[in-house]
Amino acid sequence: MTCKRKVELGPRSYSIHIGPNLLSSLGALCSEEGMEGYALLISDDNVDKLYGETAARSLREAGIVATRMVVPAGEESKSHEQLIRIYDAALAAGLERSSFMIALGGGVVGDLAGYAAATYLRGVRYVQAPTSLLAMVDSAVGGKTGINLPQGKNLIGAFHQPALVAADTMTLRSLPLREFCAGLAEVVKYGVIADPSLFDVLERKSPEALMEDDALLEDIICRSCEIKADVVRKDEREGGLRAVLNFGHTLGHAIEQVAGYGVYLHGEAIAMGMVFAARLSEQLQGFPAEDTARLLRLLQHLRLPVARPEVSWPDVAAALSRDKKRAGGTVGFVLAEQLGTVRYGCPVPADVLERVWNESGEPWSRSKE
Ligand SMILES: NC(=O)c1ccc[n+]([C@@H]2O[C@H](COP(=O)([O-])OP(=O)(O)OC[C@H]3O[C@@H](n4cnc5c(N)ncnc54)[C@H](O)[C@@H]3O)[C@@H](O)[C@H]2O)c1
Repeated sequence: MTCKRKVELGPRSYSIHIGPNLLSSLGALCSEEGMEGYALLISDDNVDKLYGETAARSLREAGIVATRMVVPAGEESKSHEQLIRIYDAALAAGLERSSFMIALGGGVVGDLAGYAAATYLRGVRYVQAPTSLLAMVDSAVGGKTGINLPQGKNLIGAFHQPALVAADTMTLRSLPLREFCAGLAEVVKYGVIADPSLFDVLERKSPEALMEDDALLEDIICRSCEIKADVVRKDEREGGLRAVLNFGHTLGHAIEQVAGYGVYLHGEAIAMGMVFAARLSEQLQGFPAEDTARLLRLLQHLRLPVARPEVSWPDVAAALSRDKKRAGGTVGFVLAEQLGTVRYGCPVPADVLERVWNESGEPWSRSKE
């Protein structure tokens, strides 16, 4: 079975296909959307080994002349160095304005290839073929692309919507469990911001059982994409509402920055951030304490961290205020009123932030793996 959704953005609208073995029909899906001729298939070295040939064969069968290009796996590849390598490969492969790029991989490849497509020849079309759960439920949809600078994550980027998203759920079978659980953190987020029934679904199965339940996984990914697509449709460039997608991210980003990238996976930092945001919500929005407890139990059930990490509050507070300066002094927290209803742009007094941080239990640590 395949589930199909649409991101409605006028001339920038596109389809999201979710289902098993979609990589074998990637070429046909591209052709249906009018993408033909020359293409650059970008992947990382883990994913290319596993799925590069299947994707390339499918493109060939559809008459698309695809050149494969591989970047090292990991966040470090969201760099100028890899971006230049992509431009070089695109030029060598003869990509023109009418050509396109394909991001085959997790969020790192998606963000990097998407930014390359946004800037090469002032913009060419691109396809997101996500292979990590995080990319399927979050980063492949919505058109945020970018790379990092030594000073911080995602500081260079562009909004550039893909022309197509094709998520082959069979690829999740090879995803390491820790990465899978990190992706589930974003699904929990959708539960908090829009659809508490996702909580019921996730509470019933262990992550291992979920990983093998293709039909349920497809439903969860589909629902997550639906929620994200709806938010993006209403606020493509994050003028306001799109900020709700950042529930748990304000603190999560600060934790990632202070701990050093790679210590916590993105989803793990977001899990800690969501617990923090829930506690702030209790104090400031009347969010029920039993719902914070439910969130905490669910995250633990999904093998995600819930307690305060081993980083110091002054460092975290400094990272939060740097974030605020970058956004012109307007970063507010996304807080929940109840499961399924959140408000964005909520100011939180500094003393409340510090008190809730101090009340967040024993530090939780995970050494760099
Ligand atoms: N653009 C957005 O809206 C958005 C949203 C959220 C996160 N992001 C970005 O996404 C990135 C994180 O994405 P991620 O968690 O997918 O990380 P990732 O791309 O680094 O992938 C995680 C690891 O899993 C491997 N992998 C991916 N798919 C696999 C598969 N099917 N089988 C085996 N191994 C596989 C990768 O090689 C990598 O080692 C961050 O850079 C973050 O900033 C972007």
